[in-house]
Amino acid sequence: MTRLSQLSRSIEGRVTLVTGAASGMGRATAHLFADEGASVIVTDLTQDGVDAVVAEIAGAGGTAAGWVLDVSDADGAEQVVTEAVDRFGQLDHVVNNAGISRFAPIDAEDYEDHWAISLEVLLTAHTRIIRAALPHLRRSDAARIVNIASTEGWGATKFGSPYTAAKHGVIGLTKSLAVELGREGITVNCICPGPIHTGMTEAIDDADKQVFARRRTAIGRYGVPEEVAHGTLNFCLPASQYMTGAVLPVDGGLLIKNA
Ligand code: NAI
Repeated sequence: MTRLSQLSRSIEGRVTLVTGAASGMGRATAHLFADEGASVIVTDLTQDGVDAVVAEIAGAGGTAAGWVLDVSDADGAEQVVTEAVDRFGQLDHVVNNAGISRFAPIDAEDYEDHWAISLEVLLTAHTRIIRAALPHLRRSDAARIVNIASTEGWGATKFGSPYTAAKHGVIGLTKSLAVELGREGITVNCICPGPIHTGMTEAIDDADKQVFARRRTAIGRYGVPEEVAHGTLNFCLPASQYMTGAVLPVDGGLLIKNA
C-alpha cells in the first residue's frame, strides 16, 4: 500500500551554516544538525572557539568545518560562505544565531555605541549572511533560513532598547523575507528563545534565575540550548516546506503566561 506521508524529516546530507556556533544555542544547534547527518559550517569570533566545536562534532562522529567569522565584518560573510561552499559543495540552511546583549538607559552617555553594535550584530549581520548565502540556497531543494530573535522581539525589558529594537527587527526581517523568497521555495522563520542557560546568561545568579523562571514561565525553569536547537531543526526539515514567516517562541511559556 502507498504511504500517505510523502515529506522527509531527514536532514541527512544537507549543509548548515551556523553563526555564533562556539557557545550556547549555536553550539547546540551545530551538534544537533551534525547528529542528524548534516555537514555543519561552524562560525564564530575566535579560531579556538570554532576549533573546539568542530573537534567535539568530529569526536561524536559528525561532519563539521570551522571558519572565523565576525558577523559585524561587512566582507566576512561573503568570503566564508564562498569557502564553505567550495568545501561542502552546497548550502541548504542558514541559522543566524550570533548575538550579544547590551543594555543601556536611553540617556546613557555611551548609548549610541550600544545601539550601533546591537543593530549591527543582531540585525544587519543577518542580512549580510543571507545575501551571501542566497545564490547557494537557490540551488537547494529545501533551502531554509532560521533567525534567532528573542522574547524581546515581542515584549521589552527596561533599559534593553538596543537589544529589543534589534530583536523586533529580526522578526520584521523574517516576515518580509518569507514573503519575498516564498515563491522560490526558500523558507524564512524565526525562533524566540526565552530564558536559556548559555554564555549570555551565565553571569545571572542561579537563585535569581530560579525566581525569575518560576514567576515568569509556565514550565518553571530556564531552558537548555538543545531545546531551542530542536525548534530550529524542525524549521529546517524538508517536510517543513509550507512553514514560513513563522515566529516560534521556545520560551517555556513565558509569552503566554499572565499569572
Ligand atoms: P552565547 O553568548 O552563549 O553565544 C553567543 C555566541 O555568539 C558566542 O559564541 C559569541 O562569540 C558569538 N558572537 C558574539 N558576537 C559575534 C560576532 N560579532 N560575530 C560572530 N559571533 C559572535 O549566547 P546564546 O544565548 O547562545 O545566544 C544565541 C542567540 O540567542 C543570540 O542571538 C541571543 O540574542 C539569543 N537569545 C538568547 C537568550 C538567552 O536566554 N540565552 C534568550 C533569547 C535570545
